[in-house]
Amino acid sequence: MEDLYKINRTLETAIKMEAEGKLEEAIKNYKEAYIHMVELARESKGAERKKRAEQAEQILKTYKRLENSDAGEDRLEKGKKILESLNIEPPEIPKITFDDVAGLNDVKNEILSKIIYPMRYKELSQEYNIEFGGGMLLFGPPGTGKTFIVKAIANEVKANFINVNPSSLYSQWFGQFEKNISQLFRAAYLLSPSIIFFDEIDTLVPKRSGTESDAAKRGVSQLLTEVGGLTSEKDKNIFIIAATNNPWAIDEAILRPGRFDVKIYVPPPDFDARVKLFQLKLSKIKPLGNIDYEELAKLTERYSGADIEFICKKAVQNVFMEVIKTGNKIPVTTDDIISVIYQIKPSIDERMLEKYREYMAQ
Ligand SMILES: Nc1ncnc2c1ncn2[C@@H]1O[C@H](COP(=O)(O)OP(=O)(O)O)[C@@H](O)[C@H]1O
Ligand SMILES: [Mg+2]
Repeated sequence: MEDLYKINRTLETAIKMEAEGKLEEAIKNYKEAYIHMVELARESKGAERKKRAEQAEQILKTYKRLENSDAGEDRLEKGKKILESLNIEPPEIPKITFDDVAGLNDVKNEILSKIIYPMRYKELSQEYNIEFGGGMLLFGPPGTGKTFIVKAIANEVKANFINVNPSSLYSQWFGQFEKNISQLFRAAYLLSPSIIFFDEIDTLVPKRSGTESDAAKRGVSQLLTEVGGLTSEKDKNIFIIAATNNPWAIDEAILRPGRFDVKIYVPPPDFDARVKLFQLKLSKIKPLGNIDYEELAKLTERYSGADIEFICKKAVQNVFMEVIKTGNKIPVTTDDIISVIYQIKPSIDERMLEKYREYMAQ
């Protein structure tokens, strides 16, 4: 009788999970219930035995149906539909690669060892018991390439990039916020391998002030549950990466072990990275003069990658207008770029950098 009680509890869990849309969990529990029910039938006799066997058959059918509903081509379509219903842009494998990312060598190495290699060399990493999965938090000044590098990661591991804007998940309707979060993870599973990217995570899970709504609190705890679940089920091929310019504004609960416990600082580009940034951002311009990249890098300390991209665009635009006016096809020169640098202030300042240093020193 003890066994039957346990089986029923497992079934209850399965049904609850199914109702919540956590199909993998549901399948796992149905399977367990099925195995025990078969055993119970084997141990029983007569009518009892027949009844248990029928029940086992029933459970088997249920979970086969669930498993099949996740099969093949259908998975992608379903995952996409869920994202659409959550107002999240369609998933894609981005075209950006690690070579398009200037500088950030430490960041790249960290990501290679924690995400890319374990995913690419799965069996090997299991043999060496390399831990991976869970969540990673990128923080640093705006425009330093946090979003950009996550796209490159997705490309390197050929994973679907799911770009989550916090405002599309939040809802003050009772239960809706949690449901959205759990649906998001369901979609990520269907689209796996996938990367869920929470941009501006500080707005999704702000530091607790004691005045937040119940909806917000439950949303955070749902997120923690989902992330924790992934850490313990590494075979799911889902990575969670979050980014923020304001790491000090995040609810600390999400930074604990097993959650977003790998924290990586994404610094402003150093000299070499700025040289590379100018080279990359001008690489598609055909009428290009002999550019003094080192001079440009010297003049752009504390400019972010985004600033440098903007400067290049603006300089090229200026030259283009000149060409249209005069009908004279001239190349873009170092001076054209320098004159734009003088017009634009860097978006990073010393005070801001000091704040990050303080945060890291804690
Ligand atoms: N290290 C970098 N290498 C190449 N491009 C960069 C880099 N940093 C920033 N950029 C450029 O600036 C743009 C904005 O960067 P983004 O990733 O959105 O910054 P963040 O998310 O850190 O605010 C990117 O689309 C990219 O073109
Ligand atoms: Mg960003």
